[in-house]
Amino acid sequence: MTKIILDCDPGHDDAIALFLAAGNPDIELVAVTTVAGNQILEKVTRNALAVGTVAGISGVPFAAGADRPLVRQIEIAPSIHGESGLDGPTLPEPTIELDPRHAVDVIIETVMAHEPGEITLVPTGVLTNIALAVRKEPRIVERVKEVVLMGGAVSGGNWSATAEFNVVVDPEAASVVFNAGWQVTMVGLDVTHKALATPAVLSALAGLDTRTARFTEQMLAFYGSTYLESQGFASPPVHDPVALAYVIDPTLLEVRRAPLDVELTGTLTLGMTVADLRRPAPADCPTAVALDLDVDRFWALVLDAVSRLP
Ligand code: BDR
Ligand code: CA
Repeated sequence: MTKIILDCDPGHDDAIALFLAAGNPDIELVAVTTVAGNQILEKVTRNALAVGTVAGISGVPFAAGADRPLVRQIEIAPSIHGESGLDGPTLPEPTIELDPRHAVDVIIETVMAHEPGEITLVPTGVLTNIALAVRKEPRIVERVKEVVLMGGAVSGGNWSATAEFNVVVDPEAASVVFNAGWQVTMVGLDVTHKALATPAVLSALAGLDTRTARFTEQMLAFYGSTYLESQGFASPPVHDPVALAYVIDPTLLEVRRAPLDVELTGTLTLGMTVADLRRPAPADCPTAVALDLDVDRFWALVLDAVSRLP
């Protein structure tokens, strides 16, 4: 069993990452933390509690974290995720109670309470909470097994021509995370733009006929429409579960070790992630980037997880 903390901003694809975490038998979800990103903190936190309720999660702390980036103004994505941050399905009244602690403290306390190498961090939102946790308790860097994050891209962006949303909204936080010295795998648009919810995926989902599958279908109907309208995708890319899929089965992705950093001063390139792929990385290089995805096995993993949930 791999123990993970999911740091997220649900968000349609974050919700599917949460379903994958809850339904996959090899993952133990030890905490869910939220961060402002796809919508304001209050909304993404409510969405996380509702999505956890749909999945029947209990006994896992859910905690709210940073309500804005470290330095910059908050930026949200209603053009993709709607006014609620999770438009489409009707959200149930949450049965999960919010943990009173700040997400940053939950991350620190959880990591420090486990043995070194036990906890994997899976950030699927803006990286503010993770950066704050590193600054508040630097010992987590040595204790965490690895950080596998959805964000960035080796080439091309989605929020600007050069930058991906999770990184560009708080690039200073991304800089802290990339440069902390721990193992970081960046699962970016290069692979997540292959994880498309095609008609074949939707019909497989429809065949599952569970509450969680129906909820996922309703989410994808809305998410598909906004991706078509705003970015011209015929089928929407389901980014966030790809990072967790790599934690579950590293053979699903082709990953290459490479020095990695983020642009903090560019005008056209602010938030651009830069991986140096010119030559083999030095043996002690702690960062890696995902370059390819086994799409069919990825969806099989997601559908299997959803089928195990209520
Ligand atoms: C990322 O941005 C968010 O809108 C999604 O949830 C995903 O984490 C993709 O760029
Ligand atoms: Ca997200």
